[in-house]
Amino acid sequence: MTARSQAIAGPALDAAPAAGARAAVEIRPARLDDIKPILTLHREAFADKFGGAFGASGAERGVRALATAWRRQGLLAMRGMIVAEHAGEVIGTASLRTWEMGGDEAGTAELAFQEELGLWGAARSLFALSLLDHRIERGEGFISDVAVMASHRRGGVARAMLARVEQEARSRNKRFLGLYVSAANHGARTLYHSLGFADLRTRRSLMARLFFGQASWVYMRKDLH
Ligand SMILES: CC(C)(COP(=O)(O)OP(=O)(O)OC[C@H]1O[C@@H](n2cnc3c(N)ncnc32)[C@H](O)[C@@H]1OP(=O)(O)O)[C@@H](O)C(=O)NCCC(=O)NCCS
Repeated sequence: MTARSQAIAGPALDAAPAAGARAAVEIRPARLDDIKPILTLHREAFADKFGGAFGASGAERGVRALATAWRRQGLLAMRGMIVAEHAGEVIGTASLRTWEMGGDEAGTAELAFQEELGLWGAARSLFALSLLDHRIERGEGFISDVAVMASHRRGGVARAMLARVEQEARSRNKRFLGLYVSAANHGARTLYHSLGFADLRTRRSLMARLFFGQASWVYMRKDLH
């Protein structure tokens, strides 16, 4: 969940059932009408990031600011993002960003944040979110937004979404997948290790600790060739 990126989407991510998931789960590209359920899921799954970016009592306004920014950017904001859907409900998300997809419309997000959070609130939130930014390399498929609704966890949904993301990165001739995970997020790190990702380096940031309560973020990578 960042202000300017996060919601990515690739037209090549076709809808199909998720192999390995216990219940019938469909994986498909995110649509504009998914924005509300996606942000509801992200608010729950990334509570630390929402709290850090928008303040302990500001999550609701943060969701509104992000929703406005995404809606104004339209499909650009959703590029590279897939959702897992179960019984008509969005229960998971994952995103793949590549160098070719380019950056986001920073001005659109800034304006939406300013309208919703005020000038200083917007500045604070955008600064906090920028601490989690990553410069994507040309050979990289960068993964973010990996989240599954709490009631649907440990059913293989994340594994299925990541398989789809990997397939998409391979079809785009990417050399490797990369992602950041909080060093303290042992469940997610176990998931990524089980899929062949290795810890490459650790980013330490006092500012990230101040805002998100987490000072260490591990950059994990998986080679695709
Ligand atoms: C991390 C997360 C996405 C995993 O989603 P999930 O659908 O439950 O994951 P899966 O069922 O596909 O798990 C696949 C494997 O990963 C590992 N794993 C997943 N969650 C785990 C956990 N909490 N503890 C230990 N291992 C875990 C296990 O090896 C699991 O296989 P198993 O269930 O057969 O033992 C989910 O817990 C989540 O949304 N967490 C909050 C958001 C978050 O931290 N996202 C990651 C940001 S980098």
